[in-house]
Amino acid sequence: AKVHVFDHPLIQHKLTFIRDVNTGTKEFRELVDEVATLMAFEITRELPLQEVDVETPVCMAKSNVLAGKKLGIVPILRAGIGMVDGILKLIPAARVGHVGLFRDPETLQPHEYFVKLPSDVSERELIVVDPMLATGGTAVEAVNSLKKRGAKHIKFMCLIAAPEGVKVFTDAHPDVDVYIAALDEKLNDHGYIVPGLGDAGDRLFG
Ligand code: PRP
Repeated sequence: AKVHVFDHPLIQHKLTFIRDVNTGTKEFRELVDEVATLMAFEITRELPLQEVDVETPVCMAKSNVLAGKKLGIVPILRAGIGMVDGILKLIPAARVGHVGLFRDPETLQPHEYFVKLPSDVSERELIVVDPMLATGGTAVEAVNSLKKRGAKHIKFMCLIAAPEGVKVFTDAHPDVDVYIAALDEKLNDHGYIVPGLGDAGDRLFG
């Protein structure tokens, strides 16, 4: 699997304020939304095109429109929800599937409590989104869940990842490319990413 780090200056700038402990809920939500839009712009860079004819006010011309598979966005509840609207700004026709997983604070094991996907999930190119890839357990389970239901083309996109989580995820799902805004240093004993941004779900929703 390939791991892409989006080093665009606007993404890196906004990420600084997302990390900042003094950033309040309103601003945190807005920044996550904005970064999700910018990441969607980067992740769609290689979508296939097909040539079409277009009549301009001047003449007929060859131009391009999107071709290929339809897209689906799959936020991992809760925190992934914070990235959906920002992505839909660029890909408004995408369908949205939901996978609910929480991480047991003691064992750090993920528990699935909700799955609802578009009916044509097997034909779509899916982008799974969650702000954090920490131990990797949650993302691995989310993708397992999608594959069990027929999904074949999956990408995983998150704001911040720990190297431990990237390894666990890419070992489990070598066919799924990973797109991140920042690769952080490590995990601490509580499974938090260091330096990270704290608990994304709590900072978004309380
Ligand atoms: C956080 C985060 C990821 C997960 C990452 O969610 O949003 O989903 O932990 O951890 P992992 O890589 O070690 O599995 P959390 O369990 O806090 O749930 P929430 O989004 O509902 O707050």
